[in-house]
Amino acid sequence: MDQLRFDGRVAVVTGAGGGLGKAYALLLGSRGAKVVVNDLGGARDGAGKSANFADAVVKEIQDKGGVAVADYNSVVEGEKIIKTALDNFGQIDILINNAGILRDRSFAKISEQDWDLIQAVHMKGAFKTTQAAWETFKKQKYGRVVMTSSNAGLFGNFGQANYSAAKMGLVGLMNTLSIEGAKYNVKVNTIVPTAASRLTEDILPPEMFDAMKPDLIAPVVAYMVHESFPDSGNIIDSTLGFATKTHLVRGDGAPLRSKPSDPVTIESVKQHWADAVNMTGAKHVEKLTDVTLDLVQKLQDFDERVKLDAKVGRESYWT
Ligand code: NAI
Repeated sequence: MDQLRFDGRVAVVTGAGGGLGKAYALLLGSRGAKVVVNDLGGARDGAGKSANFADAVVKEIQDKGGVAVADYNSVVEGEKIIKTALDNFGQIDILINNAGILRDRSFAKISEQDWDLIQAVHMKGAFKTTQAAWETFKKQKYGRVVMTSSNAGLFGNFGQANYSAAKMGLVGLMNTLSIEGAKYNVKVNTIVPTAASRLTEDILPPEMFDAMKPDLIAPVVAYMVHESFPDSGNIIDSTLGFATKTHLVRGDGAPLRSKPSDPVTIESVKQHWADAVNMTGAKHVEKLTDVTLDLVQKLQDFDERVKLDAKVGRESYWT
């Protein structure tokens, strides 16, 4: 296969001074992209800042013959990061929203400040940075965006309520942006990584930590922002050289009463609950209108059934 390259493309990688973002920036830089290496350079709980993180990665890209520029702004001022791309390279084609911090506490102990900071860096950061690039993406009819979620968001994890909420929020943001971007060839996807980094050094068992190199995930993310990437709106879980798609499914549902003429009561809900939450035959919902169409279909089936039963003079039952 021909080498997949990014010549002529400008990529912004947030939080690219270390861990996963650094691996993304180095790979894109080695394949011809001009890279904005953004990093605030603070501690893993978001405290402090420094230019060292971003500068070291820029130097590494340049030493290997690539083109890169450092940006030290926080993603909460994402418009400044996109300005760095436009001022230095005149364009922006790729945005990887990767910057992240942790403030893990059991739910009762989360302070409002911890909550706000986590939402600010993950959610507002992705909002501000992506929105600042969006007009350019629309005008040029090209854009590739990656959000960074987490299995802690998709499935929950003890002590990470603030982080889980933000990480699942990013999936919601991707869902709508993939719809709004579709007609402009702007593809928005989500990576769910698991990798050795300072965020996971005290979480992952040591034998796993050594094997979970960010370099094994970087090619997945690079493909997700390549012009040939076919999908939008996907959640891709990757670690250890594997990639897996995750998505929500919706069950077929069930009536909450035995016959249409019955009222829905708390007791009838309890009586029919097992059928209502039965996931046999559950389907992935591609778009919101599929849910609406399903409801319209159920109403039509119901009307026809009642009319037919009335014609033959019998009472309608659901089954
Ligand atoms: P990391 O701590 O090595 O990298 C995150 C980088 O973001 C740091 O260099 C940090 O300085 C930078 N950063 C933090 N706040 C910033 C801000 N306000 N503005 C700009 N830069 C900022 O951690 P890692 O593991 O590489 O994490 C990257 C992303 O992947 C994060 O969003 C994290 O939540 C996510 N993630 C990581 C997992 C893992 O297993 N390592 C698991 C699931 C998600």
